[in-house]
Amino acid sequence: MWYAQRWNLSFQRNSPGKSNRRIDVHTGEQYHKFILTSQRDRVVRDRFQKMALDLLPDGADVLDFGAGTGIDAKAYAANGHVTFVYEPSEAMREYMAQYCRDEIARETIITVASPLTRKVQGVTANFAVLNHFADHTSLFEDLSRVVAQGGFVLASMLNPFYLGDARYGWWRANAINLMRSGHYASPSESRVHRFAPRVVARAASPHFRLERLTPRGFGLATHLYMFLLFRRV
Ligand SMILES: C[S@@+](CC[C@H](N)C(=O)[O-])C[C@H]1O[C@@H](n2cnc3c(N)ncnc32)[C@H](O)[C@@H]1O
Repeated sequence: MWYAQRWNLSFQRNSPGKSNRRIDVHTGEQYHKFILTSQRDRVVRDRFQKMALDLLPDGADVLDFGAGTGIDAKAYAANGHVTFVYEPSEAMREYMAQYCRDEIARETIITVASPLTRKVQGVTANFAVLNHFADHTSLFEDLSRVVAQGGFVLASMLNPFYLGDARYGWWRANAINLMRSGHYASPSESRVHRFAPRVVARAASPHFRLERLTPRGFGLATHLYMFLLFRRV
């Protein structure tokens, strides 16, 4: 199941004030450089990492699910957390092996072939990993087996209410689906789904409870990404 939805390293980036750009990146290195060049993405990443680090007790282990090239894993390891990384894309893993070479050698970053290998305090999934799933029910059921009681799943997902996307035909065409079902698949983004937070929260229960959503209210209209914090119950 974990390998069913491979990412083809090609994604669409909607930039405010710019035309709708399709970014084709073919290697982990290209992804890595692209994502770190964007000032906006860096700011969002810093906020996500800070939230994850604030949630982790000292020395607690974490699983970075869909870890990409290991950008977050490196930060968690630097803060004293042994970080298990699960990443299905070979291209991403190849570059991670280079970028996190020292941490992997010291075993402060440990690559795993299945996300269900070790019990951890927290699972992070940054930059739209969960948007690659059409349904999260079995994912949360599986994650409930690895997240310790009282632990968490923190995910950064594409926000379906982001008004910056309202200029695009696919967004307007899906507005009804969003209101009705809280979910739509974007035809212009390969295999990417967008979800209202309540739909993900429903899929996460009864194992996890949505504890925090950032931003909320009008903020949802102005942020491309939303952070969802789920607590293991
Ligand atoms: C935009 S990248 C984000 C990578 C990394 N988390 C980051 O913050 O840079 C999305 C990631 O989701 C991963 N992914 C796609 N489908 C997945 C699945 N079914 N399970 C786990 N990860 C998946 C991709 O391989 C890719 O690395």
